[in-house]
Amino acid sequence: MRTVSHIVRLGVAVSAIATGALLAPTAAAESTFDVTVLAATCANCHGPDGRSPASIPTIAGRPESILLEQLRAFQSDTPPAGTTIMGRLTQGLTDDELVALARHFSQINAQP
Ligand code: HEC
Repeated sequence: MRTVSHIVRLGVAVSAIATGALLAPTAAAESTFDVTVLAATCANCHGPDGRSPASIPTIAGRPESILLEQLRAFQSDTPPAGTTIMGRLTQGLTDDELVALARHFSQINAQP
């Protein structure tokens, strides 16, 4: 049943992105979360497992501290100049979720 509930929650996150609401507040409101579900919402842009095939930066294998710093900067009231979507995307996430995402992607090898 675990798998089924993950699919349902991912469905909520994906449809929230599709409607422009971006990353489900539902996920942020939960006291426990599965980082792989959150991380899956990054794949559309950053590629499977954070290995980007295109111009959006690869986030796999980057140092955890740098990823976390970037995510917190995006979420701040003054996101880095020239950035587009990440400010809005990170609004729906708690700091615990940013920490977990930074750790998750730092542990993935950038080369498959
Ligand atoms: C809709 C596309 C999209 C999604 C979904 C997305 N990102 Fe991004 N991400 C970007 C873009 C575009 C940039 C470049 C900065 C900007 O324009 O906001 C970026 C930049 C980043 C960076 C900085 C990388 C660098 O080297 O500058 C990190 C870290 C990051 N994203 C993490 C994530 C995480 C974690 C998720 C999932 C929770 C995620 N992103 C979901 C589009 C996306």
